[in-house]
Amino acid sequence: MKFIRSEVIGHGHYAPAKVLTNDDMAQMVETSDEWITTRTGIKARHVVEDEINSDLSLKAAQMALKTAQIGAEDLDVVILATVTPDYTTPATAIRIASQLGVKPGTPAFDMSAACSGFVYALAMADNMIRLGQAKTALVIGAETLSKITDWTDRNTCVLFGDGAGAVVLRAHEGNGNSQDVGILATKLFADGTHFDNLRTTGGVSATQNAGFVSMDGKEVFKFAVNSMPEAAEAAMQEAGITAQEVDWIIPHQANIRIIENVGKKLNISDEKVIVNIANYGNTSAATIPMALSERMSDGTIKKGDVVVLTAMGAGFTWGGAVIRL
Ligand code: UT7
Repeated sequence: MKFIRSEVIGHGHYAPAKVLTNDDMAQMVETSDEWITTRTGIKARHVVEDEINSDLSLKAAQMALKTAQIGAEDLDVVILATVTPDYTTPATAIRIASQLGVKPGTPAFDMSAACSGFVYALAMADNMIRLGQAKTALVIGAETLSKITDWTDRNTCVLFGDGAGAVVLRAHEGNGNSQDVGILATKLFADGTHFDNLRTTGGVSATQNAGFVSMDGKEVFKFAVNSMPEAAEAAMQEAGITAQEVDWIIPHQANIRIIENVGKKLNISDEKVIVNIANYGNTSAATIPMALSERMSDGTIKKGDVVVLTAMGAGFTWGGAVIRL
């Protein structure tokens, strides 16, 4: 029987040129390279100067279309996961779609699920493809977190950065089993009782401004160490994939201690855990597609590999996905 899967046929990533090192941060707030490195694994973060979200997204999207060897006119939907859109309305995805040159009428929308945003957006695109609503989808995760960072707050400002990552998905005929190529499973979760543990201090309806990121780091950390492995496990179970079959796991890059814990809890060895937090910090919805694209570009992650994604963020939201590339 015909079974539709979403195959990843293209990938892209982009980060703004300006880099702030830990030593630069130590000039701005009372902190040190030693504290930031040992507590988080972060050494540097990229931040925008003149660029805005759609500029970063466009660069990642163009690379994704190029690696997919398709044109924008082939896209049936564009989804952007972000909490830092260009404007409150319309959705930044619509602007990106038109800048790319999609066919008039092609649907485009933003998805807000914080650091889990890319996994959520991937699930939406996969569902649209499997239902026959789209054949080819562009999914972007992009953030300009530097714009909602309080640069005088050492508890948060050392953690975040700006960047964008993207994938192109295309409908592909599979058999409906774990050996298929494409997205094998996605699992999404949310629990609003943790709303205040990680949120901005403002928002359009509440305060008429975007506010700054504020969080109870310890509470977020405690939740992340359990929820990220659990989301990965749930997606693997749904996909019918065992830990032995996993080639790579790409955890959301928020803290090296959380990232390393995911592999340990799942019995997946350290060398299979993709880590790039040192160079970018936490770029929220962008961390996973940036890491995936970087490692596909340098040949580390190859066609046919089984990749598990897992993320957790404000909400709290969390989720996992399993893909055979
Ligand atoms: O992407 C969404 C998910 N986000 C996350 O997953 C973040 C999860 N949380 C974390 O990664 C960690 O909790 C942090 C990295 C944010 C903090 O690490 P921690 O080991 O939990 O440190 P802490 O909050 O216990 O702070 C320890 C000390 C405090 O000082 P006192 O109260 O012990 O005197 C802080 O004031 O470190 C202090 N501190 C800093 N010191 C130097 C906090 N930030 C800094 C800093 N530099 N940048």
